[in-house]
Amino acid sequence: MRYPITQAYRLLSPRLLTLITTVNLKNGINAAPADFVSPASFNPPIVIVSLTPGIRTYKNIKETNEFVINILPRQYLDQILRCAARYPEGINKLEIVGLKWYSSSIVKPPRIKEANIWLECRALEEKRVGDHFAIFGEVLAAEVRDEIIKEGEVDLAKVSPVLHLIKDNFAVDYKIIKHKRYDYK
Ligand SMILES: Cc1cc2nc3c(=O)[nH]c(=O)nc-3n(C[C@H](O)[C@H](O)[C@H](O)COP(=O)(O)O)c2cc1C
Repeated sequence: MRYPITQAYRLLSPRLLTLITTVNLKNGINAAPADFVSPASFNPPIVIVSLTPGIRTYKNIKETNEFVINILPRQYLDQILRCAARYPEGINKLEIVGLKWYSSSIVKPPRIKEANIWLECRALEEKRVGDHFAIFGEVLAAEVRDEIIKEGEVDLAKVSPVLHLIKDNFAVDYKIIKHKRYDYK
C-alpha cells in the first residue's frame, strides 16, 4: 500500500516521548511533550528538537536559549499528555497536571522530579525545516536517577520510557496501548 508522504514521519516510529521544560523571561515555567527529538552529535554532545513555531516552548527557547529534556516513566503518561493541552501564558502546566519540579544544575528551566533522565541543554542555533524549526541543543548536563543503573549501565526496563507510535497509540514496556490525547479537539 502506498502511504501519504506527508504522513511518512509516522512510519519512523516508535519515537521516544519526552517532556520539554522551558522558562520565559519572567522565569514562568512551561512543559510540553515532544517526540521529534534526536541525538545529532557525540562530541560536542548535540541533540535536535523539532518544534512548531506557534508553541510557547519554541517562544521560550527563542527568548532564553535553554531547555531541559525530561524522560518520565510510563506511569506518568497521562500527565505528560495533559501538558499538550494549551493554557494561557503564565500558567504552570506542571502544577495543573500534578508533576513536581526542582532546580536544574546549570540551566534555568527546571527538571521534573518524576523523571528518570534529564538533559539540560543550551540552544546553539535553529534551522527552519518546512513547518517546524529544528533547535540544535548542546547538552550541558546529563543525569540519570541512581535507581535505574544496573551493573554500571542504564537499565531501560527501569527507565520504562513511553514510545509514541501513531496518533493515540503508545508503546510501554513493549506493549502497545491507546491513551487519550488532550491536544486534539
Ligand atoms: C505525543 C506528542 C508528541 C508531540 N511532539 C511534538 C514535537 O516533537 N514538536 C512539537 O512542536 N510539538 C509536539 N507536540 C505538540 C505539543 O506538545 C503541543 O503543541 C503543546 O500544546 C505545546 O505546548 P506549549 O505551547 O506550552 O509549548 C506533541 C504532542 C504530543 C501529544
